Amino acid sequence: MSTPPTTAHENRDEEVVESGDGFPLGAMIGSRYRILGHIGRGGMGEIYRALHVVLRREVALKVIARRWAKRRVIRARFRAEVRRAASIIDDHVVQIYDAGALTDGRPYLVMELLLGDTLAARLEPRDALGLLETLEIALGIALGLRAAHRQGIVHRDVTPSNVMLVPDGDGWRPKLLDFGLAVDLGVRDDAPRLTAPGARVGTALYMAPEQIACARVSPRTDVYALGELTFEMLVGWPPFGGATAEAIYRRKREGRHPSFRTVRPELGAELAGLLDACLARDPEDRPDLERIIDQLVIARAWLRSSGRAAT
Ligand SMILES: Nc1ncnc2c1ncn2[C@@H]1O[C@H](COP(=O)(O)OP(=O)(O)O)[C@@H](O)[C@H]1O
Ligand SMILES: [Mg+2]
Repeated sequence: MSTPPTTAHENRDEEVVESGDGFPLGAMIGSRYRILGHIGRGGMGEIYRALHVVLRREVALKVIARRWAKRRVIRARFRAEVRRAASIIDDHVVQIYDAGALTDGRPYLVMELLLGDTLAARLEPRDALGLLETLEIALGIALGLRAAHRQGIVHRDVTPSNVMLVPDGDGWRPKLLDFGLAVDLGVRDDAPRLTAPGARVGTALYMAPEQIACARVSPRTDVYALGELTFEMLVGWPPFGGATAEAIYRRKREGRHPSFRTVRPELGAELAGLLDACLARDPEDRPDLERIIDQLVIARAWLRSSGRAAT
């Protein structure tokens, strides 16, 4: 269900489980979290705003939908998401506070409540963003990815709906969410596979060619998505559009996209070349995240000092 009933149950201290997937406002989860509202629905479940009643702190709570929670493999994937995400302590990654399971077995995850919009909402008008704003957001995403990669984790699903823009001073701080498809590169090959071998995972528009080919992913897989998101912010549409997933895959396999230099000449040759290389078909031809971060920092400083921020 998408909207919980509006009746308040202020003093309830036991878990209230509805017949559907939703919770009434005021319902208690795990004897500590009181549901305050419904934030949204993702591919795997519902996201709620809740209050940690002991700490008096608001949090976000993700509860896996009943139909998914029935499947052992999904419950295992969810637990893995929780552990992976919890291992990344960084300002550009949503922080995980707690996890548990309802009495009916549905797992839930408690995380930092992010107030702001997703990058998807920001891109909705299909207008290009300003150059400085784009570089700030791209840099924030890159820093979040670096923190994940340092833990040996590839996100694999860096899309505009998995980036939240949280107000920060007079700008935005991007935060990476949803490690539901993330893969731990440290996991041994004989460990149980949560994704069927060869299964395509990711969102068509933002999938790297190696994901489409069901080949090995690496940190460069996230670099590809970073390139795509940056292109979309600078131009207003993604570099490899198409009416169907197959059309998008074909364009990605062909590897033809307008160059960053052509679409936004003010980027400068160096940064434009680096961003073009993020979209290389072969992961080996993509730049290292560290180089991208360096160039974004340089470009941002230059833009700020030359007063070209409005372009
Ligand atoms: N910690 C959070 N704070 C605020 N909103 C969130 C938070 N986590 C997720 N959301 C919102 O819920 C949506 C779905 O969450 P996500 O974790 O991406 O789930 P799914 O795996 O179902 O895609 C996000 O796109 C975002 O709008
Ligand atoms: Mg998501």
